[in-house]
Amino acid sequence: MVKRLAAVICVLLAIPFLALSQGRVPRESYSSSPPLAKNEAERRILAVLAEMVKLHQTYESVPMADGKALSLLAETADAKRIAEIGTGTGYSGLWFCLALEGTGGHLTTFEINHERAMLARKHFQEAGVGKLVTIVEGNAHQTISRLKGPIDLAFIDTGEASYVDYLNKLLPLVRPGGLILAHTPETHTDYVKAVTTNPDLETILYMQGRGLAVTLKKR
Ligand SMILES: C[S@@+](CC[C@H](N)C(=O)[O-])C[C@H]1O[C@@H](n2cnc3c(N)ncnc32)[C@H](O)[C@@H]1O
Repeated sequence: MVKRLAAVICVLLAIPFLALSQGRVPRESYSSSPPLAKNEAERRILAVLAEMVKLHQTYESVPMADGKALSLLAETADAKRIAEIGTGTGYSGLWFCLALEGTGGHLTTFEINHERAMLARKHFQEAGVGKLVTIVEGNAHQTISRLKGPIDLAFIDTGEASYVDYLNKLLPLVRPGGLILAHTPETHTDYVKAVTTNPDLETILYMQGRGLAVTLKKR
């Protein structure tokens, strides 16, 4: 009798834990865990991403949750031509390369700081994606004029005060159905206003990590 009572109590105590573990996705731990590599190329990219974090070789980089979002969006859009404004040391670029390995595309990324561009180049080489990436050094407000359309996906992440100049220069190059992403939208209110008041665009705000404004160019 005592044994049966103990068993019932154990089951009752276990139910809430089972419900919690089965009913809810542990969002924070999931977004900060790396994706599972499906081949050697992905394993190599993920290894360099992990090493960059371990050795503190990132520079104001997107957190892992946002990196996963960048990669997923690029793959979903079947992006073959990606433009990134603000390379840093190549961390976000490597997340795009995860998608580009599958889509067979190319990343053109713009960086004003020579040392960071060099470090990014090294990271792309180490990850085996050197051929997938072109780094354009210089002030992107000017060098962006070298970019040729059509672009499938553009990502703005220079941390400067206004992203609207980049938006205006990228918009004619992005194909209809293409995406324009901007990091930390909460700190770029003029940009958010520009992308949410243009009838040719549709924007959602993804607010995991440090956030992304995800804008579809409808026509
Ligand atoms: C926030 S960091 C980029 C981080 C990178 N996207 C990542 O997640 O790994 C911003 C970078 O933009 C670069 N940058 C700032 N102003 C720029 C400009 N006008 N042209 C090109 N790069 C610029 C900075 O030198 C810096 O490396």
